Amino acid sequence: MTFRIDVLTIFPEYLAPLGQSLLGKAAARGLVSVGVHDLRQWTDDVHRTVDDSPYGGGPGMVMRPEPWGRALEAVRPPGTRLVVPTPAGRPFTQAVAAGWATEPGLVFACGRYEGIDQRVADWAAEGGPVSEVSIGDYVLAGGESAVLVMVEAVTRLLPGVVGNAESVEFDSHADGLLEGPSYTRPATWRGREVPPVLLSGDHAAIARWRRAQSLRRTADRRPDLLAGLPDGALTPADRAA
Ligand code: ADE
Repeated sequence: MTFRIDVLTIFPEYLAPLGQSLLGKAAARGLVSVGVHDLRQWTDDVHRTVDDSPYGGGPGMVMRPEPWGRALEAVRPPGTRLVVPTPAGRPFTQAVAAGWATEPGLVFACGRYEGIDQRVADWAAEGGPVSEVSIGDYVLAGGESAVLVMVEAVTRLLPGVVGNAESVEFDSHADGLLEGPSYTRPATWRGREVPPVLLSGDHAAIARWRRAQSLRRTADRRPDLLAGLPDGALTPADRAA
């Protein structure tokens, strides 16, 4: 099955990277297909207006609902998840990406300015799941770069897109922890040695060492992730590491 991605934006050129590298190859192999659509196609005035000032006052502009309603009716297959990137959304995580990768496809609605009139997401929820999501606690100028991030995170989880399924299985975040350090040849570089256990050939010892590194790095850089692990996720050996 081809995973279908549609993106609605007023800056279609911004999504040009979707045709490149990993995703371009996946598209060429029929695993993914991507459509990028200019929202202004669905405006109905000579100025092709997509925004207006906010009711209640305040800075910036809000995207008007009418073009969005027509665009979604034209582009969104019934039941397909609508993803609306917004700094006011729920966090986009590896677990969210893994869930979306099991669905038939996704439609992304890129807002600019102060966002999209809230009635669009509320109305769209009648036609299928709607996810308002943030890629991090910072404010971007619009949803386009967030869509590039989310599409990359989701598509590399689709069966067959990444050549080595193990490289996806052992990713940072796949088990709720950060991945530890990696090394390659030469064994000594500028006086720095590769940790000897990695050269030992003792696969059980290597697995234990990697797990300990992963736990230490997570404790140091992301204590919030350790605190959020479900009960039983850490073994007595983990706690000793
Ligand atoms: N649009 C603006 N900022 C954003 C963010 N942090 N995540 C997703 N979409 C956004």
